[in-house]
Amino acid sequence: MTEKKGQFVALLRKVNEIAASAQIRTQKLRLICELLESSVPYYNWVGFYLVGDKERELVLGPFVGEPTEHAEIPFGKGICGQAAESKKTFIVQDVSKETNYLACNLNVKSEIVIPILKDGKVIGELDIDSHATSPFTDDDESFLEGVAGVVSGLF
Ligand code: SME
Repeated sequence: MTEKKGQFVALLRKVNEIAASAQIRTQKLRLICELLESSVPYYNWVGFYLVGDKERELVLGPFVGEPTEHAEIPFGKGICGQAAESKKTFIVQDVSKETNYLACNLNVKSEIVIPILKDGKVIGELDIDSHATSPFTDDDESFLEGVAGVVSGLF
């Protein structure tokens, strides 16, 4: 196993521990954001968007990083909205090349969004911005899909 894979295995174990702890759900989500942002140097903004009362709209949940003006994002809009529409992980290794993109902060160079599914429906997303170009590998994708699976179990 590569060093990076090993680190992700250990991190996923910690995510499971947070999920199993006796905190309220919002606090668990916040702790997961903090864990990811502090453990992976190129995860510079880590947050959850959740589908609330309005159908086909993502609402900003717990996050760590710079505040964002995008507190509500309709399905289809931006990288987050496109991932919600397709129900698939969406990786943009260079945001300057993505035309359907909602900019938050000029330091952001790349983004990965992982939909959180429950009974085949998108109930939220895990969104990560990076200040590096092309930082995300298959290992990030599998790890973060694992995290999204754990988080789905909290709903
Ligand atoms: N860049 C995202 C918007 C959310 S922020 O990254 C926090 C997008 O294009 O959907």
